[in-house]
Amino acid sequence: MSQAPSESLSATPYGTLPPASTPSVRKPLSLPRLREMHTQGDKITMLTAYDATFAAVADAAGVECILVGDSLGMVCQGLSSTVGVTLEAMRHHTECVANGLRRSQATAWLIADLPFGSYHESKEQALRSAVTLMQAGAHMVKSEGGGWTTDTVRFLVERGIPVCAHLGLTPQTVHALGGYRVQGKTDESAALLRREASALQDAGASMLVLEMVPALLAAEVTQQLTHCPTIGIGAGSGTAGQVLVLHDMLGMNLGKMAKFVHNFMDGAPSVRGAMEAYVRAVKNGSFPDNSIHAW
Ligand code: KIV
Repeated sequence: MSQAPSESLSATPYGTLPPASTPSVRKPLSLPRLREMHTQGDKITMLTAYDATFAAVADAAGVECILVGDSLGMVCQGLSSTVGVTLEAMRHHTECVANGLRRSQATAWLIADLPFGSYHESKEQALRSAVTLMQAGAHMVKSEGGGWTTDTVRFLVERGIPVCAHLGLTPQTVHALGGYRVQGKTDESAALLRREASALQDAGASMLVLEMVPALLAAEVTQQLTHCPTIGIGAGSGTAGQVLVLHDMLGMNLGKMAKFVHNFMDGAPSVRGAMEAYVRAVKNGSFPDNSIHAW
């Protein structure tokens, strides 16, 4: 009688990851595959992860993109914002996640955040920082903001580094924004966001995170960007994909839960089960629900 994969593995202490030789249940994600999903209207799923085990479990649960977010400053390091996260911390956690993916199915697309101050000085500084994260195992880097960042995005893309942009609430500039507030609520700020999104697509960004943006505006930007899928967080159901911070979707938030978060551990038998429920809900359009999770 054949054994279930988990039974055939000898247990090891401190978390067992399947050996790298375990046959993949799906093909590795790639930029062409992500483009194909976008064209076909297949919602893209993304979660943050900061260590090997959670990354491997998310990969096994079918999460397509793993983001080593600089939110690690808050959820792993206990900081009050992402401003204090260093490039070395991002490099370390990216390497941990890449190791976890390599030791399991290695199918997820791995994105790493360029932290505050690591791309602001010059395009050359951005390139050096991006190379550090790519050499740690990232497939793509993410930078926040529009305007001046557009030339930096083009510079990285021209040098073979896929870039995910990030507009709306950009946590690295929380002090300039005056707090974690919904962005793009006025006609003027919505028009600016639309312009910046188009410029980032034209500069070669191949993904765009939209955070805390009214659902209608996010849906319009999604329609406007024909070759750059939008990934929403607090941006309603009309985006091409969704992302949540891992600890939030597992209900591990002792403060006030943001309106756009759903605790997928509710009723789930395990962490993997919660992640599978998240993937299902994003794919079938039941999460996010604009009447609950959006503005
Ligand atoms: O750092 C992070 O986790 C992020 C997500 C909130 C998109 O940027």
